[in-house]
Amino acid sequence: MTEPSTILALESSCDETACAVVVDGRDVRSSVVASQIEMHARYGGVVPELASRAHLEAVNTVIEQALAQSGMHFGDVDAVAATSEPGLIGSLLTGLTAAKTLAWTLDVPLVAVNHVHAHVYAPALDDQPIDYPAAALICSGGHTAMYHVRGPMDLTLLGSTRDDAAGEAYDKVASILALPYPGGPAIDRAAQRGNAQTVDFPRTLLKGQSLDFSFSGIKTAVLYHVNGVPGAVRDQSARPRGIENLSEQDVCDIAASFQAAVVDVLRIKLRRAATATGARTLILGGGVAANSALRAAATQLADDLGLTLRMPPLKYCLDNAAMIGGLAFHLLRAGKTCGLDIEARATVRR
Ligand code: KG4
Ligand code: ZN
Repeated sequence: MTEPSTILALESSCDETACAVVVDGRDVRSSVVASQIEMHARYGGVVPELASRAHLEAVNTVIEQALAQSGMHFGDVDAVAATSEPGLIGSLLTGLTAAKTLAWTLDVPLVAVNHVHAHVYAPALDDQPIDYPAAALICSGGHTAMYHVRGPMDLTLLGSTRDDAAGEAYDKVASILALPYPGGPAIDRAAQRGNAQTVDFPRTLLKGQSLDFSFSGIKTAVLYHVNGVPGAVRDQSARPRGIENLSEQDVCDIAASFQAAVVDVLRIKLRRAATATGARTLILGGGVAANSALRAAATQLADDLGLTLRMPPLKYCLDNAAMIGGLAFHLLRAGKTCGLDIEARATVRR
């Protein structure tokens, strides 16, 4: 296919309802994101039933806005794309069903896109193509995954989290420290005023050269550091435990120490993956890629290894539909379209 290709893409895997219009895989004509963060904030995390309902309410509006902002019309759309996996099943269904309806009504192909693979592709949006092979680290509220990437559609999963995702650990630790939701940005800000040497939190690297991750241990370590170890006899001369007995500076110090431990693990694993894959490029993506300490560590690592680092701007790190439309272009060109009977999948087998 040599004709320019305009894709209208939808993303609804978690708590953002998004629509974008992307031409030829990299030229983003519009990218609209309706966030549900405020609605979920009072629960300290995403409530799946509320998310599904909010997607339903927002989906038509984001489609209209994305099309209007792109200056295009439904008649200009060559294909419709949507995230089909992985994610919250009720959330995925809304975007995928809307995409099926549009594809059928407009009589254009439907392209189903893997959300995490789209995060890997995101640095190419509004920018140069990625120089492969690459080692890609995608960290978000729902995923922590390392990939060997040979092309937009040619990825091998090298490792993923065995328990909590990195962003989930950030969100839970923020809650322990009584910082606002979402926890990632709050910890990032607090850490900038803290001393990372204050607490030596564990760096869980797992056995051998494993590229899997585990963040549940550090979350518990922070909890015990703040509240004390359950059942342990407390030295009466020691300061009383509990968040109410911590100063603002204590909180910043704990946030900085936690962040340093998480970023150390991510940096060490990314270095391992780069070496193992003979990568020319390092890719960082997902919401946690917005983290200032992780961005600095990845920049330093790329420098040390003489590799190119591709980190998307913030709007393409967080969930968005432009990355779905970008990757969908390559799938469309390769003939990887799907029928209207395609089903959403909450999880993807390794
Ligand atoms: O990719 P994303 O928008 O949604 C998911 O697919 O989960 O990522 C959201 C996650 C949240 O856990 C949030 O706390 C985290 O990304 N996050 C950050 C930062 N900004 C967002 N984590 C660390 N530092 C940040 N600056
Ligand atoms: Zn995501």
